[in-house]
Amino acid sequence: MPARKPTVVITYPFHPEVIQRELKPKARVILAPTRAKLLKALAQADGLITLLFDRVDEDLLAHAPKLRVVGNVAVGVNNIDLAACRQRKLTVVNTPKVLTRATAELTLTLLLAVAKRVPEGEALCRSGRFKGWAPDMLLGHELKGCHAVIVGAGRIGRETARLFRALGLTVEFISRDDAESSIQRKLRRAQVLSLHLPLNRQTHHWLSRARLRLLPRDAIVLNTARGPVIDEKALIQALQDRRIFGAGLDVYEREPEIPRALRRLSNVVLLPHLGSATEETRAAMASLAVQGVLGVLNGKRPWNTVRLK
Ligand code: DGY
Repeated sequence: MPARKPTVVITYPFHPEVIQRELKPKARVILAPTRAKLLKALAQADGLITLLFDRVDEDLLAHAPKLRVVGNVAVGVNNIDLAACRQRKLTVVNTPKVLTRATAELTLTLLLAVAKRVPEGEALCRSGRFKGWAPDMLLGHELKGCHAVIVGAGRIGRETARLFRALGLTVEFISRDDAESSIQRKLRRAQVLSLHLPLNRQTHHWLSRARLRLLPRDAIVLNTARGPVIDEKALIQALQDRRIFGAGLDVYEREPEIPRALRRLSNVVLLPHLGSATEETRAAMASLAVQGVLGVLNGKRPWNTVRLK
C-alpha cells in the first residue's frame, strides 16, 4: 500500500508554481486563508506553512494535535511563539540566505531615494509644477565618504555593508556584544544608520527616543528589518523637528498601519515591506520553506531549521 501523504496546511497560495511542482506531489495541501478555517484545518495538519503576518501562538498550536513542523516563508520568525513550539517539540524552518541580496539592494534603494530626495522630485514632475532647473531646488546629499553604522552583523547587514562600501561609504557595525557606551559613540557619528536586527524582546524599540537624540543632524535612518525595532513615535518627532535629515522605511510598528503623521512628512521614503519582493527571491523563499517542511516530515533536519531557545 502506498504510504499516506502528509497533510500540509498553507495560509496563502504563496507561490502557486512551487506549490504545484514541489509540494502537491508530496503532500495533501489544504488552503486555509482565514483564522477560522486555519484552526479547523489544523486538526489534520502534519505541517503548516505560514507568512510573516500569521500569528503562530499557543491558541493556534492547541488546535494542531498532529503538527510536526511550521515553515515560515520569511527569515523573520517574530510571528511564531518559539517557546511554545519548543515545548510541543515542533520544528520551525524559515528562509534565510535566499533573501539576503534582495533586502540589501532594497536598503540601498532607500538610502539613495532619501539622500537624493527621489520621491519629492518625482512628485514634482507628476504634479505639473516643475517649472525648470533651479540652483536651490531639492538639494540632497552626496554619499561618498559618509559614515554608515549598521546595526546587526548578520547576513543582510553584511551584504548591505558591501553595497554601501561600493558606493564609497565607510561602514562600522553595532553588534549584540557592543556595550551601551560603544553603541552611543557609534550613533553619534552615524550619518547613515541601517537596522538589520531580528525582532524579539531584546530588540523592541532598539532605536529609542534617547538613542535617536544622539544621531547627527545629517543622519539618515533606514529600516528594512521589522517596524517595532524603532520607537516609531520618537522617529516621527525627530523627522518633524528636522533633527535628522530623513528616513527610509520598509516596515512599520503596527504594520500594515502607517501613521498619518509619517505619511505627511516629506523627509521620509515609505515602502510597503518590499525587502524580499523580487521574482527570484520569492520563488527561492517558497521552495526553501516547502523543502524544509517536507524534509522534517521525512525525518530530516534541514539546514534552515530555526534554533528554538
Ligand atoms: C522576512 O523574510 O522576514 C522579510 O521581512 C520578508 O520580506
